[in-house]
Amino acid sequence: DTITLKNIASHCKEYGFIYPSSEIYDGLGATYDYGPYGSELKNNIKEYWWKAMVRMNENIVGIDAAIFMHPTTWKASGHVDAFNDPLIDNKDSKKRYRADVLIEEQIAKIEGKIAKEVNKATKRFGDAFDKDQFVATNPRVIKYTEQIADIESRMKSAIEAGDLEALKQLIVDLDIADPVSGSRNWTDVRQFNLMFSTELGSVAGEAGKIYLRPETAQGIFVNYLNVQKTSRMRLPFGIAQIGKAFRNEIIARQFIFRMREFEQMEMQFFIKPGTEMEWYDHWKNQRIKWHKALGLGEENYRFHDHLNLAHYANAACDIEFNFPMGFKELEGIHSRTDFDLSAHEKHSGKKLQFFDNEMNESYVPYVLETSIGLDRMFLAVMSAAYTEEKLEDGSERTVLKIPPALAPVKVAVLPLVNKDGLPEKAEEIMKAVKLDFNAQYDAKDAIGKRYRRQDAIGTPYCVTVDHQTLEDNTVTIRERDSMAQQRVSVPELIATLDDKVNI
Ligand code: GAP
Repeated sequence: DTITLKNIASHCKEYGFIYPSSEIYDGLGATYDYGPYGSELKNNIKEYWWKAMVRMNENIVGIDAAIFMHPTTWKASGHVDAFNDPLIDNKDSKKRYRADVLIEEQIAKIEGKIAKEVNKATKRFGDAFDKDQFVATNPRVIKYTEQIADIESRMKSAIEAGDLEALKQLIVDLDIADPVSGSRNWTDVRQFNLMFSTELGSVAGEAGKIYLRPETAQGIFVNYLNVQKTSRMRLPFGIAQIGKAFRNEIIARQFIFRMREFEQMEMQFFIKPGTEMEWYDHWKNQRIKWHKALGLGEENYRFHDHLNLAHYANAACDIEFNFPMGFKELEGIHSRTDFDLSAHEKHSGKKLQFFDNEMNESYVPYVLETSIGLDRMFLAVMSAAYTEEKLEDGSERTVLKIPPALAPVKVAVLPLVNKDGLPEKAEEIMKAVKLDFNAQYDAKDAIGKRYRRQDAIGTPYCVTVDHQTLEDNTVTIRERDSMAQQRVSVPELIATLDDKVNI
């Protein structure tokens, strides 16, 4: 059976990975709390990212900036004026939708029609079938392709011009109906800012209005000179950060895929203007390598180039992941030019330039950004890991095949039976391994049941202490995915595990 987001969400709740926030009050929309195993996994993802980005690159350093920033930051960054979603309400169903998403769904429908034609033709012509040629010459497919191009260009120009009437007209022309009620009775399209605001201390009214940051990036831009000077960096160099971001998302469904409070892992790489395409390719390569090295399945990733560029970018793409609901954005790679630093220069009146010794001139650096949602990465790991298996003996197990380096618990120490001196020996081993790994001791229930519990939280290794252990000081290590067992001596144990689970 196919695994759904619901399967994953309920497993996450049952085993202490993720709970709906303030659940006793029936939760709060699109906010979630990470439980004991969830916070371990989340910390491991952070560490895996931080090691690859900061520790492994001598020219990248990390910071931890405040969530609150001077309000002018968001004027300069464009978020006050441009960080809007175009929304449309259906008068009958009272449902609110993003206008661009409604239109994109229409495009997806036409893409579906093309896929259907291609499938039909593949069946008809068999091996000899040339798909590219068919797509280029079949009159029906050509018509669909032209329709898509037309819709995309109308949408792009409407969004770029901020022309809300043109967006509404496109929805009318495409005869789009409310997916819930089927009604075509729409309001006008309106802009809705995604930033949360609050008030600073005693400063009343508009003057005291501050925002919760909608991206971590701006904390890096405003600190760019501080970091460059205090870390004695020359271009090119990067600043990395992990931290919370907040967006008042309208369409906040799909579990932790789109949240109102989430975490980002971002890196801004400061470069010489004119070298951005080279660095864009470099970071695309680096980031896809990072993902593939993790072992969640290379076929689960693909690049998606942006047609509609964000207000700050001159080139951008996403790394998409094959989530249970299909391929969706996991990480963004953006060439941001000098958009942010120049805007901050203008608004602050402070120079944010770099003196290039070789060129003997000062300039505002360009910026190449990699930005990944920590929670989305968590969901990607869970989506790839969650497996329901039928075993040879006819029984079933649910196992999280989490990469060992990320697994919340690395090893479980289990006395085969809870008597005969086995618990004492197991506790002794537990004492030794817990210095090196997140380890769990479990003596309750039959051994098979305990293995199932560890499978369900993704523990890659179970160490079982049996009667033979008392005789020759060896234990069995059971591997989670293959369930294969191997006997090793207790002194060898830590080195054997170390090889397998460390980041
Ligand atoms: N600084 C650039 C920036 O913020 P973005 O494409 O808006 O770019 C980057 O966001 C990443 O942050 C996304 O690829 C996604 O993984 C994550 N993200 C964005 N909005 C999110 C949300 N509402 N919930 C969870 N993750 C989100």
